[in-house]
Amino acid sequence: MSEETALVIFTPSGKRGRVPLGTPVLAAARQLGVDLDSVCGGRGICSKCQVSPGQGSFPKHGVTVAKTALSDWNAVEARYDEKRGLKEGRRLGCQALVQSDVVIDVPPESQVHKQVVRKAATERAITMDPATRLFYVEVREPDMHEPSGDLQRIREALKRDWDIDDVQAAPALLGKLQPALRKGKWSVTLAVWQDHRGGRPAILDIWPGYFEGRLHGLAIDLGSTTIAAHLCDLRNGQVVASAGVMNPQIRFGEDLMSRVSYAMMNPGGDAEMTAAVRTAMDGLALELATEAGVSPSEIVEATVVCNPVMHHLLLGIDPVELGQAPFALATSDAVNTESGAIGLGAINPLARAYILPCIAGHVGADCAAVALSEEPYKADDLVLICDVGTNAEILLGNKDKVLACSSPTGPAFEGAQISSGQRAAPGAIERVEIDPVTKEPRFRVIGSDLWSDDPGFDAAIAVHGVTGICGSGIIEAVAEMRMAGLVDPSGLIGSAEQTGTARSIPDGRTHSYVILDARDDDGPLITVTQGDIRAIQLAKSALYAGARLLMDELGTDTLDRVVLAGAFGAHISPKHAMVLGMIPDCDLAHVTSAGNAAGTGARIALCDISARARIEAEVHRIQKVETAIEPRFQEHFVAANAIPHATAPFPHLSSVVSLPEVSFNTGGGDSSRRRRRRS
Ligand code: FES
Repeated sequence: MSEETALVIFTPSGKRGRVPLGTPVLAAARQLGVDLDSVCGGRGICSKCQVSPGQGSFPKHGVTVAKTALSDWNAVEARYDEKRGLKEGRRLGCQALVQSDVVIDVPPESQVHKQVVRKAATERAITMDPATRLFYVEVREPDMHEPSGDLQRIREALKRDWDIDDVQAAPALLGKLQPALRKGKWSVTLAVWQDHRGGRPAILDIWPGYFEGRLHGLAIDLGSTTIAAHLCDLRNGQVVASAGVMNPQIRFGEDLMSRVSYAMMNPGGDAEMTAAVRTAMDGLALELATEAGVSPSEIVEATVVCNPVMHHLLLGIDPVELGQAPFALATSDAVNTESGAIGLGAINPLARAYILPCIAGHVGADCAAVALSEEPYKADDLVLICDVGTNAEILLGNKDKVLACSSPTGPAFEGAQISSGQRAAPGAIERVEIDPVTKEPRFRVIGSDLWSDDPGFDAAIAVHGVTGICGSGIIEAVAEMRMAGLVDPSGLIGSAEQTGTARSIPDGRTHSYVILDARDDDGPLITVTQGDIRAIQLAKSALYAGARLLMDELGTDTLDRVVLAGAFGAHISPKHAMVLGMIPDCDLAHVTSAGNAAGTGARIALCDISARARIEAEVHRIQKVETAIEPRFQEHFVAANAIPHATAPFPHLSSVVSLPEVSFNTGGGDSSRRRRRRS
């Protein structure tokens, strides 16, 4: 027996087994269930099957590997090495034959389901297992005596070489089959999409011979205020370009409910908003392809995460039912469709689109995406996850139970409705510190690591200048103003006399705090106004009230961990968020930032079809809490208006920060507050 078979051990998987002598390494990998890639089906064309065989003694595995454990280089490998170069020690798994016991390492780039580490505040691996992959096939030539269509013979080859059954081809593709087959001398590369729910696979594109290019996909985070998208390489998940645009629906209403009202009041208004968002998304796709130098036809998939109103408007569904109890969705299932059905016309015409499932009428696919990214349903500890945009998606729970709600924070955390506000982009102030004694500020802008009082700051920011203040900047500014005694617990900015700084300037019947006055140099005046503080108070009260409501529902007053995600990017300061009272009290060491978790969820769903199945199952277990009809939400909202809070003690915060006891309410006017309360 030992003369006829050899032991093959694959690393890093540790899978091992005996195979007949002369078995190609690729075939051994298949037989043992080892993840080794191949696009050309073992024909020595694609080089995806590269492996690194070991040599010598492997006591851990109990084998000694001879130099001759694999067959010598053959002509295919030599040709490949000559043309493209094989890394030292590498072999093509489809060409090297097993001759005796051997240990074979499969490098990450040769694994189909490779894990790719996400570079973000919280690093986590994304498994690569995209729905659409390339398959090279050699197709039987037509035979007059045995008539069959080209598609039928392609099907036969896909079944034979790749075990892909009953593939379908849209009429638009049929016209490309014949020229590609003949040009490729009966060999073609196919982009085949496979449905994670077991539906029929589909050919999305075809190229003559072996296609050297790469497939790409779009991960789109469709927010009420901004649309952000990543263009990803579907082989390794790498983001090759990212961009964002303002959601053009803003002209129909700043927040979701005003867009629903627009649809209610204006016949055809929903269709107008659908057209606007689709056009913007399509333009963004084209922009990303151009920026990355990728042919739009090589973009074969898109995943979209969005809130329920955006979900309906994107799909061309009138969102009117979402504006009134019981907030019924047209469907809460994930939507798996052609990309053309959601207006993505600039990319491959047969590309697929996947919209993540919604959780409920106010808790959408964006919340599902946050859950997919942060996985509270796997946590041992109790975690609160707040993904903040114009709406906050809030999740609370652990592996036993997860609750979710959505809370209308408004666009202030995204820098909108803030007098000097802007999106997070180069030139935006993102960090602020205020000296509690002198009340002098210093700040940092996106694009430079220097503080404004560091030598070289002016030169470092010369290209973009200082243009405004973004979400994380305004949060820090207001929190710093509170810590420096420039703002009292009710949110009032004190006058110059009350605060002792000339940076507090009169602004109508209220005051503003000057962060930067560069008007003498034709630069901007950047201030935090009383209106800005009120906008932030409304936003943070909504966020806090939503989180607190979920805690009530779960019967807890404490949290083990808080994850902040969303508009403020990866750099929100936990201390400042807590000084502001955005989130319930928690050990500051356990408050972290996750960046754009919804966007990450979209990327995970793009790169890994098993993640689609996972989140489709998990959304049924997530229990939804409706904030809109819950009276306790209003109570929590009112109490949370104070900075940090009217009644909650915030013991962890008090142990690290003592807030000055100031009060600037002289019975005079804070007209902005009265105005807002009436509105
Ligand atoms: Fe394509 Fe080996 S499988 S080169």
